[in-house]
Order: sequence, then C-alpha cells, then structure tokens
Amino acid sequence: MLPVSLLAPVAPPDWTPSDWRRRVAAQQPDWPDLAALRRVRARLAGTAPLVRPHEILDLRRALSAAAHGEAFVVQLGDCAETFDTPTFAGIAARAGLLHTTARTVSQALGHPVIPIGRIAGQYAKPRSSPTEQVGDLVLPSFRGHLVNDPAPTPAARVPDAMRLLEGQAHARDVLALLRELAQSGMPLPGPGTSAGAPAVWTSHEALLLDYEEPLVRRDPVSGVVCLTSTHLPWIGARTCEPDGAHVRFLSGVANPVGLKVGPGTDPARLARLCARLDPDRQPGRLVLISRMGAARVRAALPPLVERVAALGHPVVWVCDPVHGNTYTSGSGHKTRHVDTVGAEISGFFAAVRAAGGSPGGIHLEAAPEDVTECVGGVAGVTEQDLPLRYETACDPRLNASQTAELAALTARLCADRP
Ligand code: PEP
Ligand code: CO
Repeated sequence: MLPVSLLAPVAPPDWTPSDWRRRVAAQQPDWPDLAALRRVRARLAGTAPLVRPHEILDLRRALSAAAHGEAFVVQLGDCAETFDTPTFAGIAARAGLLHTTARTVSQALGHPVIPIGRIAGQYAKPRSSPTEQVGDLVLPSFRGHLVNDPAPTPAARVPDAMRLLEGQAHARDVLALLRELAQSGMPLPGPGTSAGAPAVWTSHEALLLDYEEPLVRRDPVSGVVCLTSTHLPWIGARTCEPDGAHVRFLSGVANPVGLKVGPGTDPARLARLCARLDPDRQPGRLVLISRMGAARVRAALPPLVERVAALGHPVVWVCDPVHGNTYTSGSGHKTRHVDTVGAEISGFFAAVRAAGGSPGGIHLEAAPEDVTECVGGVAGVTEQDLPLRYETACDPRLNASQTAELAALTARLCADRP
C-alpha cells in the first residue's frame, strides 16, 4: 500500500487556500451582496468536512492502480444535480446505475472498477454566455442551484450567496444517504469496504472557488491538506487556464484532481498543466478526462498521451464521450446521439492504445430514469420523442438503457485489449 508521504502532493511552497484570488477566476458569479458572501464563507469554514481525508487518500490509492492499467474508472451522473430534496430512492437509483455499469465493465476487464458519481456536489455550471433566451425574454444564465434559480424571471436569476450554504447541506444529505446505502451492502467492492464510507466515490466540477476554499482542511492525523467538499474535484474545459485561479487552487490539495482536456489543448499546454497539477509525478494524482468529440479524438489524442507519458506523469486517461458531441435538435433541444457517443469511446480506446497508453475509464452524463434527452440506442429514441421526458437541469443525459449499451461497448473494448 502506498504510504501517505507518496500520496500527498508537495503543494507549491507558497500555496495558500486563498491565493487563487491573485489569479484570473473564470466563470465566477457576479455576487450582488459581498457582505453576505463573506458571512457565508465564514459559516462554511466552521462546518464539519463532507468527505474524510482518509477516504480521499483511499481513492488516490485506487486511482494509482488505474494509472498502472490495473483498475478502470466508471464516473457518471447528472450534468447538474438540483436542490430538490434527495429521496433515498433517487440516490439509490443513481448509485445503482453506477454499480451496474461498473459491474458490466469489471466482468469483461478482470480488474477492479472504481465507481465515481457526479454526485453530492455537482450544483454549479459553467456557461458559454452570461445571458440566455427563454421564450421572449433575455435573462441572466442559470448557473446551477449553487448560484441562482432556473425560474424564468430576472429576480430568480440573481446570484444568492445563501445558496452556497444550502448546497453544502444538500450535499451532506446526499452523502448521508450514500453512507446508509453502503451499510445495506452494495454489490461491488468500492469505497464501501471501510467503515462509514459511502456507496460510491463522489466528484464534482470545482467551479465556485468561494464555495470550495472554506472547505479546505488540514487532516490532524496525517497533516495532509484536502478539499473536503468531494473526493475527486475536477477542473472544467472553461476554467483550465494553466495560470488561472482554478488550476492554482487545486494544485495545493492532496485530492486526486480531474482535468477536462478538450480539442483546444495542445501538447505544450497540457505539459504546463501537468507540471502545475502533478509536479511530483504521483500515480493517480491526475485524472485527464478527454472530451474531444467523436470526429477529433483519433487524431487529437495520441500526441497528448505521448507527451504526458514522455514527461513521466503517471496519469489516468478517462474518456468523456458526451461533452464534445452535443447538438441542438430541430425542436430546439440540446441532445446527443448514442452512436456518436459510442464512436468517441471506440476512438478513445484506439487513440490511447496507439500512443502506447492504457485506457483508464469512462465519464458519462446519465440518469437512472427513463428520460428522453439523448437520441438513438436500441429503444430507438428519436428527435420527435425528446419533449416526452426531457427533464435535465442542464445537459442531456443518457437513460438507463442507453447507458447499458455504452457499458457493453466499453466492456467489449476492454476485453479486446492487445
Ligand atoms: C460538464 O462536465 O458538465 C461540463 C460542463 O464539461 P466540460 O467542462 O468538459 O465542458
Ligand atoms: Co454537462
């Protein structure tokens, strides 16, 4: 077992939880009441951690096996979670979808699968535009329940700092349900093997730095500095400037860190990002989540995989085959086609292997409900069907049957390893 000294990254010597403020922080809301924000931050700083440092380090250990090709990540969940009261059934269904998908892959692979939810904190969304058209109205964009309310009125869209407290309380409730669920015996060995651990690992985009910063804690036992809002925070494609605030912030915590890698990333830029986020070249510290689009992945990915390997960063390469393949249907719904998503997964496996690497996981937006948000699949959801059950709070999610098909494809690709 890797000792803590090998797991904890050496933070940049002058790093502090608040020094991201000296960098450009993209995608932060324009909080109208800064005094309220200060009060909320102080209250967050006094709360108990949501996830425990030893759990975070356990995930680092699990991911270090994935970095060596001896485990595989299955990360999935909602694009945006909402504050609607989590029911035990809804959370259990989400954990169940994750475990079912993980089991399909692990049976083919013969290795452990690491189940990670987009869950218990995925409440903040980056937006391409500060405003959006809703019917005849142009409104400030909905930025996730951690910031504002989706109702189509100007008042609802004003950022409200109290939502940061509400979001943390909500995440705590979801985690409590996940911990309960683990007691009831989930079918796969996951985090649930240690006492009190949740049924799945948690992850979210660490977007709102005013929310994340007060949740940084030093573990009194190990001395390790962790972000305790989630096990695996990730940096999104719109906030991944090497010299920006988000990269600086996450460079100082001991959590495993995800980084979305989009089509605009060239090898030199990725090298700078890896140098900042994984200076000590620790297996499983950095999870690179490729989201190139099906048409680009085969050409774009190999030079990136090669450069990262040549620089000695033992990263986990994960495929997000959804975010590069979104389009708008004739009816105006954001959607994705299952075939295109599958084509990106196939392209990802081919590209990583062509570069001498090992495909380390998949990352999906998926719901256990029978939603009609993505088209295609054996159930034959068409563009005409999209309005029937289009329920997402943000991007379109695969439904359970579409997810099962893509899990089967992933399992075939895993089994097909050279
Ligand atoms: C997301 O994961 O919901 C997301 C916004 O992805 P990306 O940053 O890759 O666009
Ligand atoms: Co999304």
